[in-house]
Amino acid sequence: MRIVDLIAKKRDGKELSAQEIEFFVKGYTDGSIPDYQASAMMMAIYFQDMTDRECADLTMAMVNSGDTIDLSAIDGIKVDKHSTGGVGDTTTLVLAPLVAALDIPVAKMSGRGLGHTGGTLDKLESVKGFHIEINKDQFIDLVNRHKVAVIGQSGNLTPADKKMYALRDVTGTVNSIPLIASSIMSKKIAAGSDAIVLDVKTGAGAFMKTDEDAIALAKSMVRIGNNVGRHTMAVISDMSQPLGFAIGNALEMQEAIDTLRGKGPADLTELTLVLGSQMVMLAKKAKTLEEARQMLLEVINNGKALEKFKEFLANQGGDASVVDHPERLPQAKFKIEVPAKTAGVVANIIADEIGVAAMLLGAGRATKEDDIDLAVGLMLHRKVGDSVQAGDSLVTIYANREEVSSVMDKIYNSIEIAKHGQAPKLIHTVIT
Ligand code: URA
Ligand code: CA
Repeated sequence: MRIVDLIAKKRDGKELSAQEIEFFVKGYTDGSIPDYQASAMMMAIYFQDMTDRECADLTMAMVNSGDTIDLSAIDGIKVDKHSTGGVGDTTTLVLAPLVAALDIPVAKMSGRGLGHTGGTLDKLESVKGFHIEINKDQFIDLVNRHKVAVIGQSGNLTPADKKMYALRDVTGTVNSIPLIASSIMSKKIAAGSDAIVLDVKTGAGAFMKTDEDAIALAKSMVRIGNNVGRHTMAVISDMSQPLGFAIGNALEMQEAIDTLRGKGPADLTELTLVLGSQMVMLAKKAKTLEEARQMLLEVINNGKALEKFKEFLANQGGDASVVDHPERLPQAKFKIEVPAKTAGVVANIIADEIGVAAMLLGAGRATKEDDIDLAVGLMLHRKVGDSVQAGDSLVTIYANREEVSSVMDKIYNSIEIAKHGQAPKLIHTVIT
């Protein structure tokens, strides 16, 4: 087999066999295929697309390029949730203990986040003492006994994806549905869960800016998962404005605690219930989505979900007293209000711009090496569709420095107040 022939074959719109795809992925990962040929192949895929069969084979070739996690020692159906990423997305923190409170095993691997705020791990580390330095046996034992644990990302998961993603980043080939779908699914499959619920975001703050693109990506990922034997479904949800009110690590921890108590923001609560119900169904713990939703509401209302969260934090060294004493979470030195300049209705909150404002405060990382400040971030006081009087606070800035004029400018530029405004639909569609 020669890579040049495979590039020409894909360039001409033909279907690559499983062996040919494996030859390409193996060769690029071990260095025998150089960057220039791999980029030509990626560009050919970008223009010619891939069939479902090719997508599944590409995904599995990437899975097999490195380590995979074996979760078979954990009892029950392991269901994972993945979000394509948004601003202020606190759902994982809520869902993990919520679903675990129904005896559904949550065996989560987590890494540090890049972008507006930290990842789930950073948010968890806003609880003093919490750590993920546990070994594989402890991890499996914790999930078997307590139904929820988080472990750090293994070093050598899907190395082919790491290399291909980096190359795509500099060759204009990131935005290709078969390449994105196989990249995301390879990581989920290598992480070992039996079933996967995908939260594909759409709108200004999302990777996919339109419903059409989000649906195409979701369909591709759902077919890959089901074709390789992992029961997969997707929810398309709104990310035109940030989710919930809090954007920032400790602030989102507080928001997650409120939501587990049944006192969270309406949109975060609803998305959590929608995704959670799908997870309960995939875990085969309920017969209908409505039954699943009732089960989730019950463990919120009777306090079991919150108790599970405390148990989970304490199991991994965390100070669980923060749940009842939020003042023990990292606190910012300065709280600065951003008053509305005019009266009206909030017509638009540009999610990714608000995300950048949070990052300017230090809530997120621009590069892997950056340190983040867990205490800082933003609290929104209005969402799209809410009315506002001049002088009302739109946002509170939580900062560890006094000078925040650039953050303030960003916020004003991203919140539009007009005569009319309507709350966007949260759940756009469900793909099974
Ligand atoms: N996220 C991923 O993990 N992979 C892609 O290709 C795009 C977004
Ligand atoms: Ca939030």
